[in-house]
Amino acid sequence: AIQRFSYHENVVDHYNNPRNVGAFDKNDPNVGTGLVGAPACGDVMKLQIKVDPESGRIVDSCFKTFGCGSAIASSSVATEWIKGKPLEEVVTIKNSDIAKHLSLPPVKLHCSMLAEDAIKAAVKDFKSKTSKQESAKSEAV
Ligand code: FES
Ligand code: FES
Repeated sequence: AIQRFSYHENVVDHYNNPRNVGAFDKNDPNVGTGLVGAPACGDVMKLQIKVDPESGRIVDSCFKTFGCGSAIASSSVATEWIKGKPLEEVVTIKNSDIAKHLSLPPVKLHCSMLAEDAIKAAVKDFKSKTSKQESAKSEAV
C-alpha cells in the first residue's frame, strides 16, 4: 500500500502564504541573525530579529528558509510567535510547540527543530553584539 502523507492545513497555509519572508541588515546593531542547518537533510534556515534595546523586546522578525514545506511553515510560525515578546521568553519556545501547532508527523520534527535553533541563534547573535558595544563603550570612557 502507498503511504500517503498529507500536510495539516496550518502547514499548507504557512507554506503558501509564509509570513515575514525577508531580510534585515545584519550589521544593524539592533538586529540578531540566526543561521542554522539541519544535518539530516541539508536544509538551511535564516531567522532574524529586530530588538528594541530599551525594552528588550523583539519588535520585528523575518526569515529565509531553503528547505522543505515543514521548515518553511515552522519558520513562518516562529516569526509570528516571537514578535512583541521579550528575549528571555522566546528562547523557551520548543520545537515541539511548533510541531504541535502544525501537526507535524515525527519524521518532520527536525524541521521544527531548525526554527527553535534559529530563534536561539538569533538571540545569541544579538546579545553578543550588545555586549561588544557595551565593552567598547566602557573602553571609551
Ligand atoms: Fe499561523 Fe498558527 S496558524 S501561527
Ligand atoms: Fe529537512 Fe524539513 S526535511 S528541514
